[in-house]
Amino acid sequence: MLGVVGAGTMGNGIAQVFATYGHDVVLSDLDEGILQKAHGTIEKSLSRFVKKERLTADEAAAILGRIRTSTALGSLADAELVVEAVVERHEVKDRLFRELEEVVQPDGILASNTSSIWITQIASATKRPDKVIGMHFMNPVPLMKLVEVIRGHDTSDETTERVLELARSMDKVPVEVNDSPGFVSNRVLLPMINEAIYCLHEGVADADAIDTVMKLGMAHPMGPLALADFIGLDVCEAIMEVLHRDLGDDKYRPCPLLRKMVMAGHLGRKTGRGFYEY
Ligand code: NAI
Repeated sequence: MLGVVGAGTMGNGIAQVFATYGHDVVLSDLDEGILQKAHGTIEKSLSRFVKKERLTADEAAAILGRIRTSTALGSLADAELVVEAVVERHEVKDRLFRELEEVVQPDGILASNTSSIWITQIASATKRPDKVIGMHFMNPVPLMKLVEVIRGHDTSDETTERVLELARSMDKVPVEVNDSPGFVSNRVLLPMINEAIYCLHEGVADADAIDTVMKLGMAHPMGPLALADFIGLDVCEAIMEVLHRDLGDDKYRPCPLLRKMVMAGHLGRKTGRGFYEY
């Protein structure tokens, strides 16, 4: 059995992919309402695969049947591996890893889907740093091939091998990187998004023009502002804060417009409004 904690944008997708490849999954979050919504989101996503004839209706039902939801962390006791996908705040993750340490069987791997926080820091909240690793899926998880696999200071070869193998067995392409704020993916992506927000903030161009330049000029499938809305502006801000603080370079300063939009609660797609309206 595999566990997923955090049933938001990423946790739903991770649970869906695990179950698609035959694993029994326990998906956990803070309250029943969130878990019900997550169940509905996964159901909707699976029905899109059925419509595209990439799954039969029976297969989709079987996948959904393999996902159990629970608000009790104790239901993860027998997990071979748990992926944490809760909010991008290290104090929340540290607390959760201390709790997981207590409930998950000693051989279980504790993985984090964090976008930017040091795996070594998260691992230090547990007594099994050799079994703590970054398993960074990309959004939307059912469609994106990459899994960035991040080794903390004390992550063992065995843990790394098991996670690489699990990713490959689900038709993903794992890429191993070392522990550093933002790893590779967000060390490169987020400063570009932040710079696009500065362009908007300073009136260099409007949102549509900025995104069109990057789509048609640089062959990006999505413009950086639309991508920020997709990721969630709160997540973008949290990642920039980690890069700024932990790399100590002002080139990573979060754009004031990003901060202001997060304060106003305009977080992108998930709230219906960000740089665009949804
Ligand atoms: P989200 O805000 O959609 O979901 C977070 C979920 O965690 C919420 O349902 C919340 O109720 C739950 N949660 C918070 N504290 C909890 C706790 N103590 N125990 C159980 N559940 C708890 O966030 P999202 O976007 O899914 O991000 C989750 C993680 O994945 C973050 O670390 C983020 O940086 C990372 N990530 C996000 C990506 C994105 O495109 N949004 C891409 C890759 C990684």
